[in-house]
Parts: sequence; structure tokens; C-alpha cells
Amino acid sequence: MKENQQPQVTYRKDYQPPAFLISHTELSFELNDDYTLVTAELKLQANPKNPQKNCILMGEKLELENIWLDNEPLPKEGYQLNEESLEIINPGDNFTLKTRAKIYPHKNTELEGLYQSSGNFCTQCEAEGFRKITWYLDRPDVLSLFTTHIIADAEKYPVMLSNGNLIAQSKLENGLTKTTWQDPFPKPCYLFALVAGKLVAINDHFITQSGRKVALSIYVEEHNRDKCAHAMQSLKNAMKWDEQVFGREYDLDIYMIVAVDDFNMGAMENKGLNIFNSRYVLADAASATDSDYQGIEAVIAHEYFHNWTGNRITCRDWFQLSLKEGLTVFRDQEFSSDMGSRAVKRIEDVRLLRARQFAEDAGPMAHPIRPDSYIEINNFYTLTVYEKGAEVIRMQHTLLGAEGFRKGMDLYFERHDGQAVTCDDFVTAMSDANHFDLEQFRQWYSQAGTPEITVSDRYDENKQQYTLSISQHTPDTPGQSNKPPLMIPFRLALINDQVEHEKLLILSKEKEEFVFDNIPSKPVPSLLRNFSAPVKLHYDYSDSQLAEIMAKDNDAFNRWEAGQTLASRIILGQEDGVNEENTKDLFLDSLEQMFDNHTDSALMAESLRLPDEITLSTLRKPVDIDGIYLYREALRKQIALRMKDKFRRTWQNLHDELAQQPYQPTADTIAKRALKNSCLAYLAIIAEKEQCVLAEQQYQQANNMTDQFSALSVMVNEQLQGFDARLADFEQQWQHDNLVMDKWFTLQATQKAGNTLDTVKQLMQHPAFSLSNPNKVRSLIGAFAMSNPVQFHHISGRGYQFLAQMVAQLDTLNPQVAARMVSAFNNWKDYDTTRQQLIQTQLNWLLDEHSLSKGVYEIVSKALAG
Ligand code: TRP
Ligand code: ZN
Repeated sequence: MKENQQPQVTYRKDYQPPAFLISHTELSFELNDDYTLVTAELKLQANPKNPQKNCILMGEKLELENIWLDNEPLPKEGYQLNEESLEIINPGDNFTLKTRAKIYPHKNTELEGLYQSSGNFCTQCEAEGFRKITWYLDRPDVLSLFTTHIIADAEKYPVMLSNGNLIAQSKLENGLTKTTWQDPFPKPCYLFALVAGKLVAINDHFITQSGRKVALSIYVEEHNRDKCAHAMQSLKNAMKWDEQVFGREYDLDIYMIVAVDDFNMGAMENKGLNIFNSRYVLADAASATDSDYQGIEAVIAHEYFHNWTGNRITCRDWFQLSLKEGLTVFRDQEFSSDMGSRAVKRIEDVRLLRARQFAEDAGPMAHPIRPDSYIEINNFYTLTVYEKGAEVIRMQHTLLGAEGFRKGMDLYFERHDGQAVTCDDFVTAMSDANHFDLEQFRQWYSQAGTPEITVSDRYDENKQQYTLSISQHTPDTPGQSNKPPLMIPFRLALINDQVEHEKLLILSKEKEEFVFDNIPSKPVPSLLRNFSAPVKLHYDYSDSQLAEIMAKDNDAFNRWEAGQTLASRIILGQEDGVNEENTKDLFLDSLEQMFDNHTDSALMAESLRLPDEITLSTLRKPVDIDGIYLYREALRKQIALRMKDKFRRTWQNLHDELAQQPYQPTADTIAKRALKNSCLAYLAIIAEKEQCVLAEQQYQQANNMTDQFSALSVMVNEQLQGFDARLADFEQQWQHDNLVMDKWFTLQATQKAGNTLDTVKQLMQHPAFSLSNPNKVRSLIGAFAMSNPVQFHHISGRGYQFLAQMVAQLDTLNPQVAARMVSAFNNWKDYDTTRQQLIQTQLNWLLDEHSLSKGVYEIVSKALAG
């Protein structure tokens, strides 16, 4: 920061109940093109739990027009207005406060509070955006009943929405319309939403298990009318699933979803009125890939599931964020597993956790899933809170069993419906419902860092006894050292001629032994099955043991895992100059055998995917990114050469089979397309005429985006002849579709070869690019910095300089997105000293030469300190 003012740190231990409560909130929005007037009438009551004389409301970037206390204008002596608060002096125990604020949504580039996207009004209040709309007790433990009036020009803003039920609509003079919404459920203000604009509704309904009819509406811009069917079906599937699996029924008579193009994150669970990034709503066969379809299904479900885990039961304070997010991610993961392939879903989730969350846990921003402090809460919507948080819920599910977990959930809902609670309350419900001691388990909520488990074994032939010695250790993280052992569910099976019964061990000590009797010969242990805990496992497998697991294990995750371990060994081994020929032969043999015998296309496609550069980078320090790239490519080429005939045949068979039916994103055809396209990707490496023709053929004949974009990607990735012409046609064909152009940007930003940075800089001049649209920033700049480590970490340092400049510029527009981008520097200490110095220079430049937002300041200063 330029001014040496240090931003304030908020600590979990400082929690105090609110000094006042707000029973009723009545809001009135007068929407104009260039300003909005917000009148808020709040009925406040002193809270006996924390008596205070004055009432301090939060408010930022608001112009005070009028203020009344109990219907009388409040004189200047009655209040104090500050930059970020409004203090009412001695208002008494029970009073009505009315304020009128002027705000400027069309100038709001932060996309927090009330803003405009494509000319339509929308809001984003989580976590602390409501204070940019009006003065309020902007904290999740203040629940209030909301009534919202929207007054606007009916021609410009024919659709006017807010939470709950529409209770009145009337025409005023001057072409204005007044629309009133009322939400019957008390809620914290972060769940408030308002939308107004030119939108069309796609309507459907759902009959709940108790027979109530719920109206479902998805609101989009007219030109997107035909892209909502999948989102609607996903919503209905999610509603049904939550009834079947958790007994949870929807509570209002109406559920609305609005898609907007300018959005900081994926989507937001506002009560009865979800607002979505359009990329998680819009899809049709021509423009969306299979993974887009799956993303939509997952996010629609995630936001729907928040209605119970988040809205009906919310967080006491923002340190408890994982209470709703970890739990809701767990729920959406389970839903997706039931809709598609469970094993593949698990593999994808673990890939993400390992590549991104493990890095976070090992870097300067490492924090427990329930953090102890923050400068900017927006920085704590992290992979740790979400994905590791979901793993912590999953472990409870594993320890208690599906039925026990359900009992715990039922008790949690019974005890806490309508309340703002803590992570501890959740664990207590799980524990009480099952009479299961989870005291040691709670440590997962307070301890940062990825635990490391080291296993060794011995076999006693005389006693027919097999012994596992297991130790655990969690490395130090900023502010936390000498960590006690955790309670860890550890699934395993022993493989002899057959796979023995699976067992669940519960680890709890720094070091412990487990003895297995009646074991006829030395087994191969299948450890941490289905990734039963978010840990790093060390066991000294021989290559042939891994090959045996690949061939025999009946845990699909561990079969996949064994292949990944072998592949990593080969890639990193070559880096060491070790001759890994035997390992390589064994791996290629095993992979080929797996291919010959495979019955599940989706799993086979996963097994053909080598660990990516980011995951490989987490395995060895300092990272040798150029070596990783080189040897990973070399291994891919060997796989391609060895199996090319099989890949060619499989591609053809799947192509012919899929060509017989119109595109449908069903689990079965998604799996087949995945395998077909991974065959194509390998074939393209060979890059002879025949393969070029094949990619070209698929590109030209594709009747869906999965096939079209896969073909384009392999042409570009392998620089097949004419790839640039295809990039140009693709642009021509899709230039009017924002979401498809995002893919086009990302494909080019993630090129590992060539001078990608120059391309990225040129693309920033493209008419479809915009620095004020987060999707565009993520798909071009974010993709380059976070998903192209080979180019971002170019030894010249040019990638670092580029990112720092972009962050400085973005920070003045949208600090939340800027803070995400600058996080690409977080793991700088994992690199060699040359790169470390280059990055440090950029971090210091940001810190010393700019007046940074709180969010970017927090990331940069912690990166430098860590
Ligand atoms: N609660 C949202 C979810 O997980 C995410 C969210 C938090 C968000 N802050 C946001 C979304 C800011 C958009 C903008 O579903
Ligand atoms: Zn969420």
C-alpha cells in the first residue's frame, strides 16, 4: 500500500452477538438509468445478548439523502456518518430507522452490491455487498423479514424480481411500475436479491413429495431462450434428489433463476431468486461441451441445495463459511455421482483437490477450513473452504456410514432450522445423533496444511500375520506449528490372489500399528481407497505392485491412482536422469492391458490422462517446470506410438456408434465421447497426414461442441497443419457467442509451445475481450497465469511482469477478480531462485507502487511474508 495505513484484520475469537436485531426490513428501489434511490425502513430492537447504547450500521459508497428516526427527521446530532458506517446515537431499545441513499449502479464495476449487466439491474450481496446498497447490520447472524418495492420504467425494465412472493403490482404515472415482493422466511441480508430488466422467462413446475406445486422460472435475455432446457431439467433432478436422499422439500411456491453475463463467481443462492453466471445456465448441443453440461448440472444443484444448507440454516459469522459451502459441495458431489459416473466424479474431484487445494495448503495463504482471521472475506471463498471442506464432511459420512450421516443431518435440521450457527454445531449434531465421539475429529476444522501419512509393512510367514505401521504428520503452515494428530478414516484392502474385504481403519495417533491375522501370503496393500481422506500418502510401492493394483484392484479410484503414480514416477524420474526404462515398459504394458480389457469408457479416458503439469509441480521442489513439460510430452508420445492402431480403431468404433444418434449429454454418451476424444488427442501427437485428416474430419462433421472443440484443441495443441485457419473459422462462426469465445480465448492462452504471451496480449485487443467482464479475464489472463505454468513461468519473467500489470489495472475496476488473479504468484517459493527473484520483484512493485484494494493487499503481503 502506498499510504502506510494497514488494513484491519478481523479475528474469529472476537465474535460478539449483534447489539441490535432487525425484525422487519422494507426496501424501496427507485431505479433510474444513472442513479438509484434506496429507501430502507428497518424495525430495530436492542439485543439483550450484547447491550450497547449506539447502533452502528455498515454502509459503503452511499450518499445519504434523508434520515428519519421513528418517522421524524433525525437531526445532525442524532447520528454520525463515516466512510464505512452510520452510527445512530442512543436510539433506544425499539425504534424504526428510515434512510434514503443514492447509489450509482451503472458505475459499479466491482459487481458487488447493485450493478448493471447488459443494461439489466442485478445484485450480489454475499459476503458483504449489501452494505453497498443501504446502511444495515450486514452480518449473517441478523435475520430479518424482507419486503421489497421496485419502482422503474416498465418499458426498460419489464421484469422486476426480488426474493419470495410477488404480492402487488401497480402502474404509477410517467410510465413507472411498482412491484412488491415479500419473503416469508427471515434471512440475513447476504441472501437479498433484486433483478430488473428486459428478460424472458422459461417456465416449468415441480410437484414436491408432499404434493405442493412449485413454479420454476429461468430468466434470460431473449436470444438465449432456447438454451435453458438443461438447466431446468437439472433443477428438477436436484429437487427430486434432495427429497429422496435427504428428505428435504422446497419451501416457497416459486423458484427463480436469472442468468447474467457479468458475475464475479459461479452463482449465488439468494432465497428464491438465484443469480447465475450465464456460463452455468446456458447450453445447447452446438455451443456447449459435455463438461459445460455437467458444470451446469452441478452448479444448479449446488445453489438449490443451499436452500437448506445455507439459507434455512445459515452461518453465525463468515469464519463458519465452510458450514454451508463444504456441506453443499459435498451434497452436489453426491448428486453428480448419482447422475453420472461415481468413480469418475471422485477422480475429477480429487484431481482438483490435489492440483489446487494442496498447493493452497502448502502456500502463504494456507488456512483451516474454518479460518481464524481475514483481512478481506472475499479472499476466503477458497478451495480449502469449499473442496477440503467437502472432504471433511465426506470423512464424517465415511466414519458414520450413510445412515448415520443421514441421522446426523436430520438432527442438524431439527435443531437449527431458522438459525445462524457454527461448524461446531454441525459436528455436535453428527456426534449426538450417532453417539460417536468426534472430539478429535474437530481438529480438521482448526488445523491447516495437508497431513502426510507414511505407511510401512511387514509380513510374518510363520504367524501368517501382516502388520501395517502408520504414522501421520501435518507440516507447519503460517501461524501454526507442531500440530497434533488428526482422526483419519483410512480405507484399505489387501490384495493377494484376490482382493480381500475392505476395512476401515480409524487413525488417531502420531504412530500406530494394525495387525491382520490369517493372511496366507504377503499381500499388496490397497491403501486410502476411494481417497478416504484429504492427505498425502507415502508407501514405498514397487513398480510391479502398482501394476498389480492397476490390473486387479476392485477400487476404481485406486486402479486409476496406481497408473498416475507410475506415470509421475516416470516423468519425475527422467528429470533426475534416472533410467526408468523398466518402469516405463511396465506402465505401458499395464495401460495397454487396461485398454484391452476396459468396460467403462469414462474411467478409461481418465486413466489415459497423465497427471498434469500443475499436479506434478506439487510433488517435487524446486519445481522444474521445463523438465516436467518435456518428459510428460515424451511419455504421451510413447503412449501414442505404441497404441496408435488401437486408438484409431476405438476412435472409429465410437465415432460410428455415436453418429447414429442425435447428441444427448447422457452419462453413457459423455463417456464414449470422452474416450473417443482422448484417442484423437493421442493420435494427433503423431501428426502425420492420416491423423491430420482425422482431426479435420471430426472438426468438419461435428454436430456438437464437444467434438468440434476437441478437434480444434488437438489441432492447435499439436500445431497440426492448418490449425490457424481453423482457429479463424471458429472465431468467424462463434464471434457472437460470449461463452464460446471464452473457450477460444482459453485454448490460445493455454498453449504450451510458442510465444503464447504475445498471443494473449494481442487477444486483449479483440472486440470480444473486455477487462470489465470476469469471464473474459478468467478465460484469457486467468487461463494463462493459472493453467499454463509452462508459459507463465517462462524464465524471462515476462509472464510475471504481464500478470502484475494486469492486476494493477484490474484492481481499480474489480478488486475481487484482481485478488484471484494475483494468487497465481502464491506458490513462488516452490520455484528456483531466479524465478523467485523475478516474482518477488513484481510482488514488491505491486505493494510499493500502488494503493491496493484490501483484497489484493492481503494476498500480496502474505505471499511476500510467507
Ligand atoms: N455462495 C456462492 C456459492 O457458493 C458463492 C459466492 C460467494 C459468490 N461470494 C460470491 C458468488 C460473490 C458471486 C459473487 O454458491
Ligand atoms: Zn455455495
